[in-house]
This record gives sequence, structure tokens and C-alpha cells, in this order.
Amino acid sequence: MVDYHSADRYFRQTKELYGNTCYVQEKKLNIVMEDGSPGPKSLLAFHEQISDCLKCALGKKRDKFVFGVGDPNANLLLIGEAPGAKEDEVGEPFVGRAGKMLDKMLSAIDRSREKDVYICNVLKCRPPDNRDPLPSEVEQCESYLHMQIQLIQPKLIVALGRVAGKTLLGLDTALKDMRNITHEYAGTPLRVTYHPAALLRNSNFKPAAWEDFKWINTFLEKKNKLWYLEKTIKY
Ligand code: URA
Repeated sequence: MVDYHSADRYFRQTKELYGNTCYVQEKKLNIVMEDGSPGPKSLLAFHEQISDCLKCALGKKRDKFVFGVGDPNANLLLIGEAPGAKEDEVGEPFVGRAGKMLDKMLSAIDRSREKDVYICNVLKCRPPDNRDPLPSEVEQCESYLHMQIQLIQPKLIVALGRVAGKTLLGLDTALKDMRNITHEYAGTPLRVTYHPAALLRNSNFKPAAWEDFKWINTFLEKKNKLWYLEKTIKY
């Protein structure tokens, strides 16, 4: 629960001390691995640590390891299923036509892959012929996604498309049955929306996708205000 009286007192006190500048402590990362060893200190360090991965057969076939792109402190984490041909060539998620569509949707809610958004995939390497990820591949790769989530600490995860949604939620169900519900993944709220490629294939989906993006924005704005107060009260 947010104690608004304490928040108010805090702001009055800091105003007396520091004027109009409000100091809030930065996020400190002290991740400990299951075996007790220290975890990576940053997303960049983690990227370097895993980019030679050969845990599953996809590693031998890839051109580039597609770790992810965006703001390492983003509130919004978008997750697709796996890199396609273009992503494998460039080493960045969503760089083809679907990626351009995604960029447009983000810009409509005043965000971008550099601004409060991080984008990655469940799998970091391209499956042959763009087939769906195999359960064994997801099993090998998912710990990387979990670590990315721990490092980024997003306030909301959005799965892009049915395959990403069903893979993350472990549900074999239609997209329509996963949308409009706030699920949870690795301790973070998760919503499922259309894959941008589906919007290119069928523009009838666009109004519903737009509703999803508006919901995302409203959720993050509300959450940000509360989070800011909660975080401020702690220090
Ligand atoms: N589709 C995905 O799910 N991910 C990408 O990176 C590109 C297309």
C-alpha cells in the first residue's frame, strides 16, 4: 500500500533540503545465482557472457546470436518468439517488415526501441525455415530470458503473438483467449497481443492491437506514478 502522507512528508523534507531537485536512489543489481555465485552486473555483461552459446543445435546454424535491443532500464519488455532470417543476418530482433510495423505501433504510444522499451525473443537463435520453437529449445534458452528480466526489471511484459504467448504461459490456446488478461511471467505482469506480422497479413486486427497498445500505455503510466511514490518512500 502506498502511504500518501509519508510521501507528502518526504517531498516536503527534500524540498527544504534540496529545493526542487528530488533524489531517488538508482537501481542496484546484486543478482545471486542458484549456486550462490554472483550474477552478471549488467545486461551488456550478460550479453557478452552468453553470446557464444551452443546449448542447443540452433547455435551451430546461426549467423548472429540475437540477444535483444533497447533501453536496459525499460518499463516495457516486448518478447517475440525467435529471430527470423533478417534478424539472424543483422543480430537484432524485429528488423524486417514486421519490425517496422512494431516501430510504428510504439511510436503511436510515444515510445521506441531506444525509449523505455526493450525487445527480445524467447529464442536467441533462428529456427530453420522459421518453424515454431521446440519445447527442448525453449527449455535450454528460457533461463537467458529470466536473467534478462531480472536485469531489466520491466513493469510489464508483452508477448508478441500466439506462439510467444503460449510458450511463455505454457498454454496451448488461441490468441483471443490470451488477450485482455493480465497474466504473470517470472513475477512480472504479462499481456499478450498480436504479432506485428499478423497485422501486416490482416489489417482487420489493427484496431484491436491499437486497443492493446493504449492499454499498455495507460498501465505503465499509472504504475509509474505509484512505483515512483513507493520507491521514494523507501529511501
Ligand atoms: N518475429 C519474431 O518473433 N521475432 C523477431 O525478432 C522477428 C520476427
